[in-house]
Amino acid sequence: MNKSIGLFDSGVGGISILNSLVTKLPNENFIYLSDNKNCPYGDKSQEEITILSIKNSKKLIELNCKIIIVACNTATTNCIEFLRKEISIPIIGVEPGVKPALLNTKSKNIGVLATKNTLTSELFNKTANNNLKNNIKIHEQIGYELVNEIEKGVSNNKSLKQYLRKYLKPMLENNIDYLVLGCTHYHFLINEIRELINKNISIVDTITPITNHVFNILNRLKIQTKNIGKGKVYVFYNGNPISTEFIKKNYKVNYLDF
Ligand code: DGL
Repeated sequence: MNKSIGLFDSGVGGISILNSLVTKLPNENFIYLSDNKNCPYGDKSQEEITILSIKNSKKLIELNCKIIIVACNTATTNCIEFLRKEISIPIIGVEPGVKPALLNTKSKNIGVLATKNTLTSELFNKTANNNLKNNIKIHEQIGYELVNEIEKGVSNNKSLKQYLRKYLKPMLENNIDYLVLGCTHYHFLINEIRELINKNISIVDTITPITNHVFNILNRLKIQTKNIGKGKVYVFYNGNPISTEFIKKNYKVNYLDF
């Protein structure tokens, strides 16, 4: 039986990771759960995020997945350890890339844009503090409303630029040279962000490292597909239909009650 790689997020954000994985592992089958009925996760309690993450993971196991990618920084930073205890298959999470930013900053100022629950989580603060060196300042900003707006669609969404301008201003005034995108949804704003910041500011997005990590784990656990043809990609949502701009032509998109 050919098992799939399962992913979940509160909405379309994790599709940024799905796209990258499909390119790197074209023979694998993928199942993506967009829990958009419960979007956003960013201001829910840790307990609620944990319950939703367990529900999504159990559904992915029921759908015959061999590994789960928590394609959501908020879910990862709030409950991955608990999830690993509860769920019997391997789980990979995604966290904001503060470490490379802290290691490489020259201006000694880095910005992190993420949800409230990511920024207040124990895991995020532990990673940040463990890598914090003298004189480096982390300028944190909660991306209020960004996830809700991205779910509506990025193209022609004027509110997004206004929010971004407001959120980036304090970071730019503090001379950041690294901007960490700590939410998978924000990957879809990279072009808009680039238009608002100076070219010498590096954007840290964790899509490539997580893709390589998944590739390595599949090899290490010897659970790569034996498929020689192209794999299938299923995207399921449980709320409003997903804006078509996030969906590649070959993805099969369906409603599923989960
Ligand atoms: N994509 C999720 C993340 O990476 C968004 C969380 C939310 O729904 O607020 O954190």
